[in-house]
Amino acid sequence: MQTTNNISLKPYHSFACEETASHFSIITCNKDIEAVATWSKTNNQPLLILGSGSNVLFTKDFDGIVAKMELMGIKKLNETASEVLLEVGAGENWHYFVSYCVQKGWGGIENLSLIPGTVGASPIQNIGAYGVEVKDTIKHVSAYDTINDTWVNFNNNECDFGYRTSLFKNAPNRYIISKVQFTLQKQPTLKTDYGVIREVLHDRNIKKPSLVDISNAIIQIRTEKLPDPKKLGNAGSFFKNPLIPIDQFEQLKNKFPQMIAYPTTDTTYKLAAGWLIEACGFKGIKIGNVGCYDKQALVIVSYGALSGKEIFDFSESIIQSVREKFNITLEREVNIL
Ligand code: FAD
Ligand code: EPU
Repeated sequence: MQTTNNISLKPYHSFACEETASHFSIITCNKDIEAVATWSKTNNQPLLILGSGSNVLFTKDFDGIVAKMELMGIKKLNETASEVLLEVGAGENWHYFVSYCVQKGWGGIENLSLIPGTVGASPIQNIGAYGVEVKDTIKHVSAYDTINDTWVNFNNNECDFGYRTSLFKNAPNRYIISKVQFTLQKQPTLKTDYGVIREVLHDRNIKKPSLVDISNAIIQIRTEKLPDPKKLGNAGSFFKNPLIPIDQFEQLKNKFPQMIAYPTTDTTYKLAAGWLIEACGFKGIKIGNVGCYDKQALVIVSYGALSGKEIFDFSESIIQSVREKFNITLEREVNIL
């Protein structure tokens, strides 16, 4: 295992701040995973696994070892008349994997086109967009347990998936995900319920969409609505959409009739955090080197902030304003380090 000392993390995360790591290594095989876990224990220094760094915010230098996941490979394990089972290395680029499946005609993840990041990070927060969550296609997750020093396999149920959460998110840095198995459909049912997907298909005069059409529609929607991290530092939605009980929803709705919310169960509502933040006057504003994106208030953007601390402080002021106005405490989606 090769390590580099005192490295800038700027190229390795999408907020591109200047924080450093005292040690850095790259994982390309299972042996590297065991080696970084052992190195971390032997040297008594924390370990952080990094994919593409599109859902992390470093607020200080990382005093430990950052290991970048580059374990590659897409392997077909099984195929029937209706399904394919694929095993994918954690370091594969997520959008590359989606495009590969779309081109082959294998459906299930086309609505998740263009989400930045790696395949290995996809189960961590159970990535989701436009009516689909990755949990709907995951069969197995293979990982190394850094507490018990053993390899473990989790089936879908054991991953404890929920909205932007999982077993892995709730046990940060315990499991190093090496491979993920996905079941995809050869005669997929396309998910076009999200109004904006139907609008794009209608504008393009597409009546019987293919997987490619859906993927292209999602790419168009995302490109129009979300900032490109290569041009403007960001980590997508900075906060989760809050889930609240129906009584609290009804009280708020009486006070703020314009508020946007969706029922998730008979007793729970999901509030649009973007609307709450916009209602507090943050949309499009810029304070110092940080701001809220002008087309989507849920996305905090960096105008060249040198330190993640400045971004964190800005997020704190949003949390305070939303709490004062709505008595709702926003929870950060981005992993704060
Ligand atoms: P990283 O940021 O590198 O890591 C995220 C977390 O996972 C960290 O805690 C890290 O330690 C851990 N981790 C990463 N890989 C491993 C591994 N192999 N084993 C163990 N732990 C690991 N997310 C959505 O759900 N839906 C969206 O629509 C969406 N849109 C986005 C749009 C933009 C413009 C951006 C910048 C982000 C968006 N995100 C979205 C967030 C992000 O794309 C996802 O969270 C993605 O899965 C992060 O992948 P990553 O490889 O960059 O993970
Ligand atoms: N809205 C506003 N103002 C804003 C932003 C949004 O009023 O500034 C309203 C919109 O008009 C819409 C509602 O809020 O009625 C929802 O907005 P949108 O469809 O853009 O989705 P979102 O809830 O803001 C979530 C995910 C995104 C995902 C999209 C599409 C979370 C935290 N975010 O955003 O995921 O791409 O839905 O499905 O659940 C991410 O996790 O990083 C991410 C980008």
